[in-house]
Amino acid sequence: MNLQISIDLSLKYWTDSWKDQSIVCEWHRSEVNEDLLRHEKLLDTGRIFVPLCGKSVDLKYLAEKGHEVVGLEFSEKACDNFFQENGLQFTKTKLADFAFFQYEAKELKITIFQGDMFDANKSLLGSFDAIWDRGSFVAINESDRPKYAKILGNVLKATGKVLLNSFTYDNREYGGHPRTADKETIEKVFGVRFKVTLIDSYDSLKPIYKARGITKRVACNYILTMQ
Ligand SMILES: C[S@@+](CC[C@H](N)C(=O)[O-])C[C@H]1O[C@@H](n2cnc3c(N)ncnc32)[C@H](O)[C@@H]1O
Repeated sequence: MNLQISIDLSLKYWTDSWKDQSIVCEWHRSEVNEDLLRHEKLLDTGRIFVPLCGKSVDLKYLAEKGHEVVGLEFSEKACDNFFQENGLQFTKTKLADFAFFQYEAKELKITIFQGDMFDANKSLLGSFDAIWDRGSFVAINESDRPKYAKILGNVLKATGKVLLNSFTYDNREYGGHPRTADKETIEKVFGVRFKVTLIDSYDSLKPIYKARGITKRVACNYILTMQ
């Protein structure tokens, strides 16, 4: 019953995953994320960061709604695919001072920094009015979560908000990826600087999760604000 599958979510793991469409299909959606659509009104229009963005169509949606959108993604394939699949003209520049390529859309305010999230800082990214985290906090190694939270804390404006989409399941049923993260865990990782508010939750047990032995899976959306 207790399947403690240990996956090292290394950059090689993600680069390999992007070569396999069946893996990408596990998380990539061709439609705008429903949780974002339901809760976007909570985010002020402005500069929005989408960490570990993959080739999410949410980037284009948010830019069309008037946000200035900045994504960050390690996979070059994902970045290339994002612009190609959305029919967006772009420029791609190797940055001199950072281990990143900068992709920039010509028609919309979308930038994607291609590189390792853990090499990013405020000098690279700037500051943000909002952060949309879907499948990112839950995608990284648990040991990397404090570093991830610190980066978000450094780039979020004092008045900014993080919309964090997460889920819970029983770790004893499935110990693999993506990782479960409940409110207590998120509060602990983000620390006293952040107030974490659960805004909604719903059953998200799909066949793919049942097949992994999971019997209960609840998706949760949180708003994180600085206090
Ligand atoms: C589960 S996918 C979610 C993608 C996207 N948020 C979405 O909703 O479609 C996680 C993404 O994080 C990227 N990733 C993982 N570790 C990363 C890191 N250290 N730096 C940058 N990107 C990373 C992976 O390549 C992958 O595209």
